[in-house]
Amino acid sequence: MRHVITGAELSPDEVRALLHRAAELKREPLSSDALAGRSVALIFQAPSTRTRTSFETGVFELGGHPLVLRADELQLSRGESLRDTARVLSRHVAAIGIRTVSDEEVIELARYADVPVINMLTAGHHPCQALADLLTLREAFGELDGLTLAYVGDGNNVARSLALVGALVGVRLRVAAPAGYQLEQLAGVALTDDPRAAAYGADAVYTDVWVSMGDDPASAGERRRALGPYRLDDALLDAAAPHAIALHCLPAHPGDEITEEVLYGDRQRIWDQAENRRHAQKALLELLAG
Ligand code: CP
Ligand code: NVA
Repeated sequence: MRHVITGAELSPDEVRALLHRAAELKREPLSSDALAGRSVALIFQAPSTRTRTSFETGVFELGGHPLVLRADELQLSRGESLRDTARVLSRHVAAIGIRTVSDEEVIELARYADVPVINMLTAGHHPCQALADLLTLREAFGELDGLTLAYVGDGNNVARSLALVGALVGVRLRVAAPAGYQLEQLAGVALTDDPRAAAYGADAVYTDVWVSMGDDPASAGERRRALGPYRLDDALLDAAAPHAIALHCLPAHPGDEITEEVLYGDRQRIWDQAENRRHAQKALLELLAG
């Protein structure tokens, strides 16, 4: 039984096969009944637009029943343990997805679940987003091995998952962030505080929100000041390769981490990324629970 908590549980061959399969499922969305007659629990302890809709519709397209569970409707909210929640859900469903700030909670749920557990975003990781992003890069460039991806802004969960999952398929990541917001040093990742140096000649330039769900909202002003020079705008994109694309996991705050011109412009593949969540996650569900 396999869990995906950081994404690094997957082998390079599995990620390549998963992306190939995701592309097939994108072409023929109703071609798989891998979850026929089975349910998938989707626990949301934090808000979501893309993750919820892409998992819910994706499970449906695989012939399964998506069981969306908000924290406030579970006995978890009244103190029932993750251990007991895992044991009970495992008697009913083929897999469990969970979104929560705490990485430890996902690890705890997985420890006691008898079915695969998928991390649908924690403060530390967002592996499903990284898989959809790799699918988007694969569509844009065909080959992933040797691509250079520049990530500018907060060295957060999205940056970390791009580093861990991207490394499996040979994507070279550069992360530009100011002091105090930089990602820890991970294998194969180039860290800098200079957004133009990171973007220079890159195949894609990626950014994410400056205040994540796991961050203290009171730090927003300080974060905006520190991260202001890392905005993804046309000038930064011009520093990248002539064919470079702009990426953002969304939700976006136009005028903060990305300009409207880039977000809605010709060089972005951001709305494809949002769609690709469904295709990539369907391939992941087939792999883990199919
Ligand atoms: N990108 C992403 O995970 O979006 P949601 O928070 O809307 O699910
Ligand atoms: N870094 C963001 C991603 C949202 C999809 C957050 O954690 O809120």
